[in-house]
Amino acid sequence: MSDIRIEKTKTPKEKPDFSKLGFGKFFTDHMFLADFNEKDGWHDLRIVPFDFIPIHPASTVLHYGAEIFEGMKAYKLEDGYQMFRPLENLARMNNSAERLCLPFIPEDMWLNALTTLINLDKDWIPNLPGTSLYIRPFMFGNDETLGVHAVHRATFVIILSPVGNYYAEGLNPVKISIENQDVRAVRGGTGYAKCGGNYAASLRAGKRAEEKGISQVLWLDGVERKYIEEVGSMNVMFKINGEIITPKLTGSVLPGITRKSCIELLKEKGYKVSERLISVEELAKAAENGTLEEAWGTGTAAVVSPIGHLYYEGKDYTVSDNKIGTLTAELYDELTGIQWGKIADTHGWCYKVKI
Ligand code: COI
Repeated sequence: MSDIRIEKTKTPKEKPDFSKLGFGKFFTDHMFLADFNEKDGWHDLRIVPFDFIPIHPASTVLHYGAEIFEGMKAYKLEDGYQMFRPLENLARMNNSAERLCLPFIPEDMWLNALTTLINLDKDWIPNLPGTSLYIRPFMFGNDETLGVHAVHRATFVIILSPVGNYYAEGLNPVKISIENQDVRAVRGGTGYAKCGGNYAASLRAGKRAEEKGISQVLWLDGVERKYIEEVGSMNVMFKINGEIITPKLTGSVLPGITRKSCIELLKEKGYKVSERLISVEELAKAAENGTLEEAWGTGTAAVVSPIGHLYYEGKDYTVSDNKIGTLTAELYDELTGIQWGKIADTHGWCYKVKI
């Protein structure tokens, strides 16, 4: 594989106020790109000034949605930065690639691209509590033909965005409505892959929810419309009668890396964690009889986000008095403590880079 060619920007941008970042609004000075075709494999690895990407009007991604992505974060340290479980993201990216018939990314290319780009834009890693550098790797099919076929050409890109909280609520509980009309994914479809199409399918219900002042929707399974799946921007966990329940990975739920990490942390704390089917009736009943003690979402962008209200079929179920639950707060502190380098990383989850 070729080295990365670097073209530095001649017009570095002014950095945003790190105390007012929000999510995904600002982008660093550079981006990474690489092209793939069957003859040359991955080639023309390059870091160039952040800019528009020229695209052929017949490109596969524009017509048939051949696109996959990842979400990761880098955290500032005294002597450099660290990424959280980047090889887990690569494994998921390659699983998504397999589902969408896109090319795999080799580990050396992944790590080299990430570290070379972040090293170049290191001054964009925010240093305030609760902030990080969000990393968005993505790949799209780029054949210049309208035939519907598995792609032969692709482009892989990494962009970087200094971020604060994903939700406007910050660490305050979010409102979630359980969606009973639209469906996000079905088994055998692409639900487990991180592909743009899953998110496109979620936008109409998300818009309806936002119009009612609700942050996000919680999806039910697409066949029986009965079992809780995920929120789209995060997986979900419930504390019911002392037990932690999270929907099992049936094929239509994204295998979240934060989800997996939280399960490990919770088990180490001695909690019983059940990855199983949980029906909306079971959840509603637990909310009604007071055994639903806490609910939260997990995700790279969302981190650990408390859920304060669940809406379903006209009813409003308040969770934890609409306050952050004790365990939710503990989990948030522990996970972010490891990510921000304040708590010892006994699991070997962090990939440190000294600069
Ligand atoms: C992430 O948590 O990184 C995601 O990709 C979720 C969302 C922002 C689409």
